[in-house]
Amino acid sequence: DKNSYFTGVNITITAGPTQEALDPVRYISNHSSGKMGFALAEVAQKIGANVTLISGPVQLSTPNGVTRLNVTSALEMHQASLSGLKNCDIFIACAAVADYRAETVAEQKMKKQPGIDELTIKLVKNPDIIKDVSNHQNRPFCVAFAAETQHLEVYAKDKLKRKNVDLIAANDVAKNGQGFNSEKNALSVFSSEERFDITLADKKAVASQLLKIISQQYALKNKG
Ligand code: PMT
Repeated sequence: DKNSYFTGVNITITAGPTQEALDPVRYISNHSSGKMGFALAEVAQKIGANVTLISGPVQLSTPNGVTRLNVTSALEMHQASLSGLKNCDIFIACAAVADYRAETVAEQKMKKQPGIDELTIKLVKNPDIIKDVSNHQNRPFCVAFAAETQHLEVYAKDKLKRKNVDLIAANDVAKNGQGFNSEKNALSVFSSEERFDITLADKKAVASQLLKIISQQYALKNKG
């Protein structure tokens, strides 16, 4: 079947936000709904891939036939991602991972301090998951996303290099009706040599086009 071009290929996809705890009841996070990553997982499974979906906290049901691993923080997503690399051909980083976490997580709920109007929370850098995947000895074919609010092409190409990935799918998240927590998306996909544009459409249609680009680039790379 020409529509089953990922038969037998192991694909890992990260999706959703991460939550970085401040205390037992509070956290830092972002507006990722998981929809883009879950659409990729659903379509990839339908075209024959064995899909592992590493998901942050989202309100979505698991697509049929997809293996789902739930995580909360960036550190948990990092561990789940690296421990599956032995059996991974293609890794797609669609999650909106928090770049920073609180240096210390308060054991008890933080109290409002009478007479003190400012609170400083020290943040420390989280590991870069896709960068650690792409520099691993069992390196899969690597696809990152780039969420940008300006200078899309320049910033995306910079991330392509810095994160040592094969493809980067950039979305303009300043535009209304696409990107974070919406039904639709549009992507500009860059390899080191080429650019492919996917125009605004439902996330499932966008996922299907992106997976086609990935399969072509993956095949090219495997031919050497
Ligand atoms: O979930 P939805 O509501 O459907 O929205 C989809 C989306 C907008 C979240 C998605 O399309 C998207 O752009 N995901 C990446 C969001 C992001 O965090 O982008 P970034 O430019 O900050 O990160 C670049 C890349 O590095 C991403 O592949 C990210 O997964 C990865 N990363 C970032 C930080 C980190 N510590 N580890 C990472 O692996």
